[in-house]
Amino acid sequence: MKFKSNYQENSITPSKVFFERRKTLKKIFLIGSSILLPSNYRLAFANILDNVEKNENFINTRPLTLEKYATTYNNFYEFGSSKNIWRSAQKLETNPWLVSIDGLVEKPLIIEAKELVELMGPIEERIYRHRCVEAWAMTLPWSGFEFSKIIEYVQPLNNAKYVQFETFLDPKIARGQKQKWYPWPYTEGLTIQEASNTLTFMATGLYGKELPKQNGAPFRLVLPWKYGFKSIKSIKKITFTDRKPISFWENLQPSEYGFWANVNPNIPHARWSQENEKLIGDDIKVVPTQIFNGYGEYVEHLYNNEKKYYF
Ligand code: MTE
Repeated sequence: MKFKSNYQENSITPSKVFFERRKTLKKIFLIGSSILLPSNYRLAFANILDNVEKNENFINTRPLTLEKYATTYNNFYEFGSSKNIWRSAQKLETNPWLVSIDGLVEKPLIIEAKELVELMGPIEERIYRHRCVEAWAMTLPWSGFEFSKIIEYVQPLNNAKYVQFETFLDPKIARGQKQKWYPWPYTEGLTIQEASNTLTFMATGLYGKELPKQNGAPFRLVLPWKYGFKSIKSIKKITFTDRKPISFWENLQPSEYGFWANVNPNIPHARWSQENEKLIGDDIKVVPTQIFNGYGEYVEHLYNNEKKYYF
């Protein structure tokens, strides 16, 4: 099936080759790129980001990935299946951006993104390791707030067992969404215990700046113990439910992309090993993958032995 080869194609494009190719293209587009630089660095959240506190529990355990890689080597299938989508992603209009929080809650909410961020503040910065299922990894300084603050605010009912997340749907600006074989919009899901965990983070910024569109503006989930595909970008809708959500990738290929998707070096992906990961940078380093991406102390208690696994 087509989607299979798309994902595989990216995963097998060696990042060194990708960046070499990028250097050549950069020379060609030198003049054009200065015009095309993202305008979303204009710090619409400046007042909030000025007061960001660094959370000392989540500091560097590895060198930070260079910003130029984090903002130009992306997965955002709405804008295409290559890693090089950052320019197309600038078409996303994130101001205004209405988000709805609904389902099995006492206080459902439809709110403008900036107001939600203000309501959930103060914003903090956390440095998290980021591990893609394709076996590459980065270390990134996110700013944002713990998702548990939203849970506290909307007050889920007793029968709310899961949280479902949904991205925007707008094929006019997101050309990937014209590809009908994908189950748009992109969706993801967590158990309510996972969503309440202290690691579960709503990122509104990266490297101390407003979150770039290609990284999921105006906000996206960050779940550092799970493979990156669970960290859904550009969230429009959050629904508390009693039914286990089926995520975008799980819907496409359940034998390859499970609901749990916890980082685990012992469970190979159907088409490649997960024993090691490549750290994206000027020189690609290969290091062993850690169970739960090294965050076991925070999340191990959520899983019995069976659920530790990938599916
Ligand atoms: N969210 C949406 N809406 N669409 C996507 O294609 N890709 C996921 C995740 N969130 C994706 C998404 C995958 S596969 C990864 S690895 C991360 O975003 C990549 O995040 P980054 O580009 O900020 O590194």
